[in-house]
Amino acid sequence: MAPILKRAFFLTTGTSLTSTTITEAKMATYSISKKKGFADVLIGAQYGDEGKGRVVDIVAEDEDYAVIARFNGGANAGHTLQLGDKKIALHQVPSGIFNPNRLLYVGSGCVVNPERLVAEINEVHTLDVALDGRLHISSRAALVQPHHILLDKIACGSIGTTGQGIGPAYADRALRIENGRLLHIRVGDLLSSPRQTFQYVLENLEATIKTHAVQGFDVARSMEAFEAGCQAMTPYIQPDTLFMTKLVKAGAKVLFEGAQSAALDIVNGTPPFVTSSNTIARGAFVGGDLPPNFHRKTMAVAKVIMSRVGNGPFISEFGGAASEIYCAENNHAREAERQLDVHELMASGEPLKLGQALRILGGEYGATTGRPRRIGALDLVQLTNIVTANGVDELYLTKCDLLTDFAKRGEGIPLVVGYDLDGASIDYVPAAAEICRRVKPIMVHLPCFNIDISSVRMPDDLPAELLAMIGRIEKMTGSSVKGIGVGPERSAWVKGPFTKDSQLTA
Ligand code: IMP
Repeated sequence: MAPILKRAFFLTTGTSLTSTTITEAKMATYSISKKKGFADVLIGAQYGDEGKGRVVDIVAEDEDYAVIARFNGGANAGHTLQLGDKKIALHQVPSGIFNPNRLLYVGSGCVVNPERLVAEINEVHTLDVALDGRLHISSRAALVQPHHILLDKIACGSIGTTGQGIGPAYADRALRIENGRLLHIRVGDLLSSPRQTFQYVLENLEATIKTHAVQGFDVARSMEAFEAGCQAMTPYIQPDTLFMTKLVKAGAKVLFEGAQSAALDIVNGTPPFVTSSNTIARGAFVGGDLPPNFHRKTMAVAKVIMSRVGNGPFISEFGGAASEIYCAENNHAREAERQLDVHELMASGEPLKLGQALRILGGEYGATTGRPRRIGALDLVQLTNIVTANGVDELYLTKCDLLTDFAKRGEGIPLVVGYDLDGASIDYVPAAAEICRRVKPIMVHLPCFNIDISSVRMPDDLPAELLAMIGRIEKMTGSSVKGIGVGPERSAWVKGPFTKDSQLTA
């Protein structure tokens, strides 16, 4: 059978050891038919942590995608996947690991930390899930080098980054070279000139240590771990730069899985409080290595009680600036907050305490960093902006079961439906962080329900108050809601349509 895609494996000696091919027989294994392939895009519609991994899991089963692909970010992402008693927090490996018939692709728009990626691959293997021949990393993706992580910690503290070297890695990609030292090093360089690559990485690290007068950094240990990671990652590098295009032309259905979400986009977010990649839907066709004519539809995930981790404007935040400061100063709040009385916090009437209570009830602590997430009301102005700017066709809402917590306060479900900027009404998210901080949210409170919905599986069995809220979200955003999360279990999910309007668009 003729090989359709070819991949060569090299070790750091540069020796070609073996090659794997995706034969026509394998194409069938990965649900690749002779029909027309396409690519769907799924993004987060807020500040991250909306539960994208879970929605990927659900829509991937319905659509039978052959490839789940990442197009941006790196180890700053974090999502927990669960299948039966198997549970894992993934950071760089795309979701979809539990279905052996799926290929996993890390696109050229990503920045890859080899040491952490290999640790993750090993963890996946302990669950008896094979990645060999399934996981493919673009040779054009950038390597996160040890000096990037060092620089992130030295220079990016005020943004509240995840400390994974993401910003410095993307910055070096743009800078390319400095005083004859190659700054931008790509995954594929490990195939062509590994020794030279390690030499550049070492020089970059030494230069950073010198410039910033870093004391006590163990260079030898760091380089040893980096090189070991690169060596173990090498079999997964995909040298064929047309890999994705060939697959889709052969009939593969692709799901692009966005990381970090639209409000953290480097251009469309509010700099400097953003990540360093393109998180928006059209970024998938830059960092995911496919031409845009394969695009079919765009999906977005939003949480009905919002969160944000790290600093930056968050217009609907409970407790406003006080909450931002509290969360920045209490990186390890999880333990302390466990001791608090949630009912007392809820009853206090103080927005900061309401945020604390909702954080505890929703388990809103960072999957990558463990930091407390700032909490706020669902901001429909921001969501509408993101749906419009990204051409979102379908919306998914997560954590709807937590809305019952508002019933305990007797205030109803808070929803931001307008912005007031210096006395004038605006319907857009300002570009500047400074202006966003001046915006006052216009809130409404919708009637709340006070029943446990975690066992509901059919739209008709949902409380009328929740259906009304979904209707309002659909009306304002102009996008139909296709599914909602009603509890933490994988099965705690209700598929739409939920309203007459969405039935019309379904
Ligand atoms: P960086 O991506 O580590 O440079 O961090 C930049 C900003 O994005 C910080 O506010 C981070 O907290 C935030 N961020 C990065 N990755 C994620 C994510 O996966 N979920 C939520 N926030 C994130």
